[in-house]
Amino acid sequence: MAERNHGLPLSRRRIIWEETNGSVGEKPFLLRPKLIQFRLDTGARESAGKRNAMIRRFAMGTPFTTDTVIREIEPESMERFPFEHRTEDGTFVFSFRMEKDEIVYGLGETVRGINKRGWTYRSWCSDEPNQTETKQALYAAHNLLIHGKHGIFIDFPGEIRWDIGDTRVDETSVTVSGTDLDIYLIQEDAPLAIVREFRGLIGQSYIPPFWAFGFQQCRWSYFTAEEVRQVIRGYDDAKIPLDCVYLDIDYMERYKNFTVDRKAFPDFERFVRETKEKGIHLIPIIDAGVKKEEGYSVYEEGRERGYFLKNAEGTDFEGAVWPGAVGFPDFLRPEVREWFGKQYRHLTDMGVDGFWNDMNEPAVFYSAKGLKNALDEAEESRGKNLDLNGFFHLKNAFTGLANNPADYGDMHHLIGGKLISHPKVHNLYGASMTRAAGEFFEKEFGKEKILLFSRSSMTGSHRYGGIWFGDNNSWWAHILQCLKMLPSVNMCGYLYCGADLGGFGENSTRDLVLRFLALGVFTPLMRNHSALGTRSQECFRFENPEDFRDVVTVRYRLIPYLYGLLRRASEENGMMFRPLSFDYPDDPIARECETQLMLGDECMIAPVYEQNASGRTVYLPEDMAFFKLSGERVTKEILPKGLHYVNIALNEVPVFVKRGKRVPLCRPAMRTADLDGKPEEYLEF
Ligand code: GLC
Repeated sequence: MAERNHGLPLSRRRIIWEETNGSVGEKPFLLRPKLIQFRLDTGARESAGKRNAMIRRFAMGTPFTTDTVIREIEPESMERFPFEHRTEDGTFVFSFRMEKDEIVYGLGETVRGINKRGWTYRSWCSDEPNQTETKQALYAAHNLLIHGKHGIFIDFPGEIRWDIGDTRVDETSVTVSGTDLDIYLIQEDAPLAIVREFRGLIGQSYIPPFWAFGFQQCRWSYFTAEEVRQVIRGYDDAKIPLDCVYLDIDYMERYKNFTVDRKAFPDFERFVRETKEKGIHLIPIIDAGVKKEEGYSVYEEGRERGYFLKNAEGTDFEGAVWPGAVGFPDFLRPEVREWFGKQYRHLTDMGVDGFWNDMNEPAVFYSAKGLKNALDEAEESRGKNLDLNGFFHLKNAFTGLANNPADYGDMHHLIGGKLISHPKVHNLYGASMTRAAGEFFEKEFGKEKILLFSRSSMTGSHRYGGIWFGDNNSWWAHILQCLKMLPSVNMCGYLYCGADLGGFGENSTRDLVLRFLALGVFTPLMRNHSALGTRSQECFRFENPEDFRDVVTVRYRLIPYLYGLLRRASEENGMMFRPLSFDYPDDPIARECETQLMLGDECMIAPVYEQNASGRTVYLPEDMAFFKLSGERVTKEILPKGLHYVNIALNEVPVFVKRGKRVPLCRPAMRTADLDGKPEEYLEF
């Protein structure tokens, strides 16, 4: 077994972040990343032999190379695969029994609980703007399941169904939509040990620049430079810290990637400089589809070089997204990734140093073929008396246009001279777009220089960028949904992540934005974002913006600590956020608690997630110090192990610190660049 590409083997890359571990000790806590020093421990933590024994690979057929796994492990014959399995109609099915109280973890970005039991999930990257609990798939394919002493990772880029005690309460049954696949089995004593082994297998997680931990404001859209200036002014006048403002699709000229609408943003280069001088990073969106337009160089180049997805006939597949007809770059091909990656230079040359990649499942509003069929049906319906069937048939012809399975079936990748049908590799698409950008940034600027995160992902892209959880809603339930995803995506490699705070779709309210932010204080990506047509939800627009200042200020006091946690989790293949059940496996209440999380080795977080609640019930699995943080104010109370009701005002952020631990707080600032690097005080127990 050898490690490919990734420098020192993990066992020799054990990096000890003494300065950032936050534990009680003599070491000073250094805040600025350039000042943080680390020591390489070259002693082997685990012998390679032992690690070999823990991970087994089972291969079937000719698996598609996804590049997700970075270590080579000799495959064993499927006959030795320890779970009941069979092939059936071109699928591979395996199943295992679950004990009554066993928890099943994994699958990363999904709806529902941290414990995945009782539902069927699908790995099928989906443009899903309505994240209700009855959905089976969101934007990601994170194919890791943890069950007892086993981690099961399926390295396969097509659809997988995970029926986890849904059909039969005591059985998990997994259906892989193909018979060319790799399955890795990781055997370890505890879930965190399984996660560490798994993460060693897939390579180190992306680390963003330090400033990406600052507070970020987004909206679809700030249409002009002047609107962006107003947002920055609004935050500055209200004295609410801020580091980034986003540019959604309307900064572009007719939604063309790598262009800028010069009427709305005249002299964009100067504008980027102007905002940088104010300490603000502008983060433009990039969509997967490239507008089909004569004279638009990116499109013409892509077409001439044959870089766009094909249809079954071998000509360019024609689908539509924001700009109407687009070509979808075939990101699975290295030469296309290289070409697309270089396009970001249009914007980095102007001083831009952060991007969010979107619509890369890929989302398809309609295809040329699909729209033609629907319009033909409408034409045929003209003048007819449409009864129940007739009406719904016509309606569905239009509502079914977007992200239609027939269109995905018509898409083809040209790999090694052969057309490969898109559904076979669907889940790799968005991940490969992230890779295209990430590889370019690393080559051009080095690591940790450019902020990058994506909507769609498949494990593997965690090495190149972060993720956000897509189009949630301004619903109270989505605070908890975000909380539950955090440890799950951490398991699968995604550390830089977060939800649209305040909720993306529908109108938010002041109290919801505040409570959402109080969770967002801890998420590496802390971004307020809302959809076109919804109520504005920038913090300074609400009554008593001081409350928002109090919450966001707490974030800035915690940034060096949080940044250190992410770094360490990346270097050591650990998790920033863990379910309580990871840390207290024998505590029956902690095992079921899914409204609180362990953060780092020091603390526990428990946000308020219900409207009109002046606090919440919290379970302490051991004695803890309960801190309420608000602006620069801190209150402390020691609480014994057990259940408590704690009051938490709208402008307060609760944190629970374990005995013998401490969390450093620094002096706040309006920008991350102005954080001074010294701990001012500690949350200590
Ligand atoms: C998608 C994204 C959302 C963005 C919108 C417009 O819905 O998920 O974040 O604001 O497109 O670009």
